[in-house]
Amino acid sequence: VKVITTHQLQNMKERGEKISMLTAYDFSMATILDAAGIDVLLVGDSASNVMAGHETTLPITLDQMIYHAQSVVRGTKRAFVVVDMPFGSYQGNSSEALRSAIRIMKESGAHGIKLEGGAEIKESVTRILSAGVPVMGHLGLTPQSIYKFGTYTVRAKEDAEAQKLIEDAHLLQELGCFAIVLEKIPSALAKRVAESLEIPIIGIGAGPHVDGQVLVVHDMLGINKEFKPRFLRRYADLHTIMTDAVQNYIKDVKDRDFPNEKEAY
Ligand code: KIV
Ligand code: NA
Repeated sequence: VKVITTHQLQNMKERGEKISMLTAYDFSMATILDAAGIDVLLVGDSASNVMAGHETTLPITLDQMIYHAQSVVRGTKRAFVVVDMPFGSYQGNSSEALRSAIRIMKESGAHGIKLEGGAEIKESVTRILSAGVPVMGHLGLTPQSIYKFGTYTVRAKEDAEAQKLIEDAHLLQELGCFAIVLEKIPSALAKRVAESLEIPIIGIGAGPHVDGQVLVVHDMLGINKEFKPRFLRRYADLHTIMTDAVQNYIKDVKDRDFPNEKEAY
């Protein structure tokens, strides 16, 4: 299998082929998504919510992100694997940012890292890129700043925030980022950014006029029953499928139907 590189992602934008990206946090899921043909796997810090049950992405640690990344890399043959740098591992200290990024790359075997923010994290982005580590940006609704925003609602509806987002996107491209995620912003703004930048723009809740899409895999598979934002399309109802399977198992055990003779040694 031909592996996906940052150059191929760039070519996909130039050819007009949309980039497919999903999160993954463990070996089994990564194996399925990679074999299905996903272009980019994101070891998202959404693992903090989805895997660990925290309310925000803030508590997950660098060691925990590396553990998830190692598991995903072991299940991946073709996809480009990007790992989120967790809250506190890169903000306000470019030496620590470089050290954190190098730990992720060295200990997990991932192909690149993602961090949230624009001008505020310029030094960190520059230093990580200077070490030869591909960097993906993330602008718009950046969940590590949830206590600044106070809400998970759409960002950059006001002119000032939209203008800053456009400037940050251009800055990240100039610094050398290979792609940018835009989360939960108006479709028209995302379109403007995708059209004015050379590098691929991957959207989540950012409309169709971008170069690719990303979703949290547990959300698109319908494992998480409660989470139903407008931008989410559910491709399966695994919550119901899994609940039915588990209830059938419980019944078969109680009824002494499982295991039968053929299932015993
Ligand atoms: O952590 C995550 O899942 C993400 C995506 C939603 C882009 O950052
Ligand atoms: Na994230």
